[in-house]
Amino acid sequence: NSDSKYDYIVVGGGTSGLVVANRLSEKENINVLVIEAGGSVYNNPNVTDTLGYGKAFGTDIDWAYKTTEQEHGGGIVQTVRAGKALGGTSTINGMVYLRAQTAQIDAWEAAGNKGWNWKNLFPYFKKGEQFQSPEKYSFLDGSGVTYDPAYHGFNGPLKVGWSSTQLNDGLAQKMNTTYKNLDVPVQFNKDPNGGDMIGYSLYPKTVDSELNIREDAARAYYYPYQNRTNLHVWLNTHANKLTWKDGKDVTADGVEVTLSNGTTTVVKASREVILAAGSLKSPVLLELSGVGNPDILSKYGIDTKLNIPTVGENLQDQMNNGLQFDAKTSYNMSADYVSYPSAAQLFPNHTAVGNELLRKLPAYAAKVASANGNVTSARDLQRFFKIQWDLIFKSGIPVAEILLEPSGTTYDTEYWGSVPFSRGNVHLSSADPTAAAIIDPKYFMLDFDLHAQVEAARFIREIFKTEPFASMSGDETSPGLSSVAASAGDEGWSDFIKQNYRSNFHPISTTAMLPKEVGGVVDTSLKVYGTSNVRVVDASVIPFQVCGHLQSTIYAVAERAADIIKKQL
Ligand code: FDA
Repeated sequence: NSDSKYDYIVVGGGTSGLVVANRLSEKENINVLVIEAGGSVYNNPNVTDTLGYGKAFGTDIDWAYKTTEQEHGGGIVQTVRAGKALGGTSTINGMVYLRAQTAQIDAWEAAGNKGWNWKNLFPYFKKGEQFQSPEKYSFLDGSGVTYDPAYHGFNGPLKVGWSSTQLNDGLAQKMNTTYKNLDVPVQFNKDPNGGDMIGYSLYPKTVDSELNIREDAARAYYYPYQNRTNLHVWLNTHANKLTWKDGKDVTADGVEVTLSNGTTTVVKASREVILAAGSLKSPVLLELSGVGNPDILSKYGIDTKLNIPTVGENLQDQMNNGLQFDAKTSYNMSADYVSYPSAAQLFPNHTAVGNELLRKLPAYAAKVASANGNVTSARDLQRFFKIQWDLIFKSGIPVAEILLEPSGTTYDTEYWGSVPFSRGNVHLSSADPTAAAIIDPKYFMLDFDLHAQVEAARFIREIFKTEPFASMSGDETSPGLSSVAASAGDEGWSDFIKQNYRSNFHPISTTAMLPKEVGGVVDTSLKVYGTSNVRVVDASVIPFQVCGHLQSTIYAVAERAADIIKKQL
């Protein structure tokens, strides 16, 4: 009941929040409460069905956040999906389990986050993981899946592996030959989860291989532990804002919530409040609590408790497009084949592309800074952009992701530039905690982002022109050569890309972990600067976009955050 007092309150029972709640409640004398706006989806077939991607979209377990009209992105309002359920977005995501490139995590440290590097995070990827070795499952014979045991954890809560619907008819091997036959070959990568992602791979998913059901944060980190008497979850409960202790220090003492019966009350925390409401909600909860940019807060009559003008800034997402081709075979099983080309593999003239981009970085930085009223400085942004440039053109991180999915008599592809430079923001629109936030990712604000998207599309066309794939596929049905000619340049592709993209659903960095003086909102212990006991542990803290998919990195960051918090007990 709401009169009780908890040691820790975790706001948001999603991907990150349940990891933290689970690990903190391993200490029997520590009482943890999770506040979750959604309900249980344990028996929801839109969640559990491993072939059900998309079924939950638009249902009551999808926040379906709307962006503003995207000025540079075709004037379109995009829907950014996110899970509203115990388990959060892990209950509706594509289940892809792909980590980041070593150099990308090392860049977090280079940007000023001491101790946040690949070497230190790698053990936490493994700690959370319960890898299900494919040789145990005969349905995977012939599927082509491979792995390196050194990269995996076998004793963690989160099941990772392949499902019984994985295609095993030799298509994977034909893809491999096709990639090798490209003019600029892409080599098979036996296991992209060890920090080197470049190449073509058959990646694992968050799935229970035995039962063929989705593995999500609740199934991994909550349900098996729900009998712990010190682990409490309030479902269908909306967190409105933090409440503060009187006094000089900025110390949270609880959270105002609206319960499922409609009553609003305050629940008390004696130690800490941990925000884990996702990158489009955690910054807004801070703003509703008076932590943010005074110019924005005052518009809505909110008194500034702490002036941190970068709350809600640095929003980075990716843009997702697809090409479709006829398949000469009909497929009734599923598989997604991923390839991660480097800049040298994706851009025919990569040195020139790199040099041109380098020249543009000061202008890019100035544009982003001016768009947000200079709360992030052009100088700092330029430094971050140069780090990103070095990652692409010196460290050779993947510059795009290409997914190929056979489906019926179609080959679907999805693709995106891995590390767009555009940065937007998310801010509250009202002091009413139930009001929709103003979300502006500024898709395609900077022209390199379109160029990467165009080159990835061209790369896909090359794949379908290369044997053996060329003989296995028919016409390009979308966009089709009559719509975008084989010789089309960036301009020729622009309409198709900007009218047909969607959010890649990977928003991050809205309460970035960075030094305060360069725009950080949380420090390296994920504590909000200037507070004594408020942390953010979710996608909001990730300072730079990663090349893999977010969940693996988010689980690892949350595992590490839990250790950091426990060490301070
Ligand atoms: P997450 O969204 O998991 O948790 C936030 C929680 O807070 C939610 O449960 C929410 O209901 C709750 N909450 C919010 N506001 C609240 C409030 N005011 N009060 C109480 N509770 C509140 N990644 C990947 O690795 N592989 C993939 O295949 C995909 N595919 C994919 C598809 C789709 C459709 C989406 C939307 C996303 C993906 N992703 C993905 C991304 C990945 O799933 C995502 O980045 C993480 O799950 C986000 O984890 P967080 O902990 O940051 O937030």
